[in-house]
Amino acid sequence: MKTILYTAQQFAEAAAWIRKGNLVVFPTETVYGLGASALNPVACTRIFSAKGRPSDNPLIVHIASQEQLAEVAGEIPEMARKLMTAFWPGPLSLILPKNPALPDIVTAGLPNVGVRWPSDPVAQAFLQECGVPVAAPSANVSGLPSPTSLDMAKFSMLGRAEAILAGEDSVIGLESTIVGFPDGQPKIFRPGSITAEQLAEVLQVEPASLQLAAPAEGARPLSPGMRYTHYKPEAEVKLFTKGEDLTTWFASEEKIGLLAVDVPQGLPEGWVIKPCADWNEFARVLYRSFHDFDRVGCSLILAQLPGSEGLGLAIRNRLSKAAGQGS
Ligand code: TXA
Ligand code: MG
Repeated sequence: MKTILYTAQQFAEAAAWIRKGNLVVFPTETVYGLGASALNPVACTRIFSAKGRPSDNPLIVHIASQEQLAEVAGEIPEMARKLMTAFWPGPLSLILPKNPALPDIVTAGLPNVGVRWPSDPVAQAFLQECGVPVAAPSANVSGLPSPTSLDMAKFSMLGRAEAILAGEDSVIGLESTIVGFPDGQPKIFRPGSITAEQLAEVLQVEPASLQLAAPAEGARPLSPGMRYTHYKPEAEVKLFTKGEDLTTWFASEEKIGLLAVDVPQGLPEGWVIKPCADWNEFARVLYRSFHDFDRVGCSLILAQLPGSEGLGLAIRNRLSKAAGQGS
């Protein structure tokens, strides 16, 4: 398949492909998405094959207006309204009762739908022009890190989507925070840059109450995607904490990449080092660094693990999955 590349100014041309039932990669503030009209079940089926995505993993629907919210969701819980007011447009997805008119394939047959209103200006211009809600998972091949730049989006999706709409590098770099309301209680299904502390303040609850309990043995998880391998580069990922002794790796024959806020002194010459000024930068460059380490032939990545407060929770979630340690 030939993939047409559009500049950010050509968002209207890219949107026309969505209306015709095709796949378009577009930028958002979290990661690049692989979009199709959420009202077109055939187009949505193609998202699953383009990504190699298991068909029981539902898609997040992207909107750009209140009218579109009504097209995808049914009755909206009061707590969800409060979160929308506080954080939309932005990097928060809410799990809401589905509008029956929305095709079942979007939600993988679940009665609820994940909805997000992105803040990225190119995403907003594109979504408004689409005129339909747009179902979009991250624009990576299933299991690999999500693209956070145009060149990563091209690397993953050239030949798999009809068009790619250019944008800036994603300013956040991690997928949206997902909040659902099982049994009417707000829970974080996936941590992201909107933190437990921020959500708790708006909802007037304790941050700890937002943690999701592990699903009972054999039960279907509330967010099906949590079951699958995620965010894994080709290189093996190992985690370390500030102050940990890394000298055991110094004699390693492997080409090593290191991503850290606190870069240890005296590392060997051959290591590829990506120092970050703070954890916001670490989140922003995490997937891009994985991608770059792979491209320069690193076979081992050492990544620093933050504490679990604030943004640390989301970074720990992605790193532990990348390192193959489940969630
Ligand atoms: O930041 C983001 O959310 C990006 C950009 C493109 O918006 N999208 C994204 O989509 O990360 P994806 O498909 O890579 O991750 C969506 C996650 C999956 O783990 C899926 O299982 C969960 O959201 N999800 C979607 N709909 C759901 C639903 N109805 N109920 C529970 N979980 C849902
Ligand atoms: Mg994804």
